[in-house]
Order: sequence, then C-alpha cells, then structure tokens
Amino acid sequence: MNLKLIKGMRIVAATHNPGKVPEIAALLGQDYEILTAGQLALPEPEETETTFGGNAMLKARHAARLSGEVALADDSGLSVAALDGAPGVYSARWAGPSKDFALAIRKVETRLEERGDPDRRAWFTSALAVAWPDGPCLVVEGVVEGALTFPPRGDRGFGYDPIFIPDGGTQTFGEMEPAEKDAISHRARAFAKLRAALID
Ligand code: IMP
Repeated sequence: MNLKLIKGMRIVAATHNPGKVPEIAALLGQDYEILTAGQLALPEPEETETTFGGNAMLKARHAARLSGEVALADDSGLSVAALDGAPGVYSARWAGPSKDFALAIRKVETRLEERGDPDRRAWFTSALAVAWPDGPCLVVEGVVEGALTFPPRGDRGFGYDPIFIPDGGTQTFGEMEPAEKDAISHRARAFAKLRAALID
C-alpha cells in the first residue's frame, strides 16, 4: 500500500469551511485537487475525543470512509499550563455558539484569576490526520509555546491570538504580521511534519 500523497491526487479536507482550502493548498503545496467535506455534503461527526490527535483522526477517518477518498483533518487549540491544559480540545467551544472569542478570552482570564497561579505559560497545538479509505491513518502534531498576556493586544489573526506571545517574542500573535506568525505557528510546524512524512 502506498501511504504517500501523489501529485494530482484528490484530497478531501474534512471541514465545512471553504476558507480553509487556500490555506491547506498553500501549506501542502499546490499539486492536489482539494475538495471539502462541505462540498461533498458529508455530515460532520461529533468531536468526542479528549486529545487533538484523537479528534483529528476521528474527523479524517469519518470523511475518508464516507467519500472513498484520502481525507485530511485538523484539530487545534490553546492549552494553558495553570489551567491543567484547558481550554485544549474545547478551545472553540469556550467561545459559545456565537463564536465570541472576546468571551472565551475573558473566561481564560477569569479562570486564571480564580486559580491565583501566576504561571502564564501556554501553547497552541495543531494536530493533522490523513486517513486512507481502506484504514491507515497518519497523525502529526505541531506545537508553539509561549505565554499569555492580558488585556488582549492586536486585531490581526483570530481566536486566542491577541493574548498569546510566542517564546522569544514581544508581540502577540494578534499584533504580528501574518507571515511572521505563519513562519512559527503550530499549524506550520504540523504541516512541515506532514509534508516530510507523506510527500516524496
Ligand atoms: P477546531 O476548529 O476544533 O480545531 O478549533 C480550534 C480553535 O482553537 C479555534 O476556534 C481557535 O479558537 C483556537 N485556535 C486554534 N489555532 C489558533 C491560532 O492559531 N490562533 C488563535 N486561536 C487558535
């Protein structure tokens, strides 16, 4: 069995967000025909796992099984040391149904104050899974470590970017040029591992 991504191959991105296609094409290289689970009207599975890798694998396997094509899925989030790794796999869910990240950020700050722990270390994780319809699945993870700062700074980026300063830097991800973030991000690191494993 050939567990490599071959040029021209169709890959189903297990997402309903068409905005992710250019991002995936840029990170993977332009040589693939990328379809989304949304375009194929595949139902979204519930993210029932407790690890980023587990959820990425669950989504990739689900899309591969239903589409009969190789499928790629990601799962990512912010982990805070003093909160025992929360919000972790619940990073998106902390923003509520209206995806309000100002609310999610306030929740992180409040929980930290309640703990009374001065430790502000945190890290972003991106897990990527590639599943073949006949069973095999590869999972890789990229991590970027840093520290949280309050109040939030910067209006670039998304999600928890305005409170995260990567190690060695002074700006938050929300203040950085997108290219600067892309050079060191958890997602870029995960894609680099994926390319090394699956592309000749
Ligand atoms: P997912 O779609 O289940 O992977 O949810 C990931 C969530 O983690 C997003 O909604 C963001 O809140 C957060 N997250 C992941 N990566 C980043 C990032 O690079 N910057 C800021 N927030 C992120």
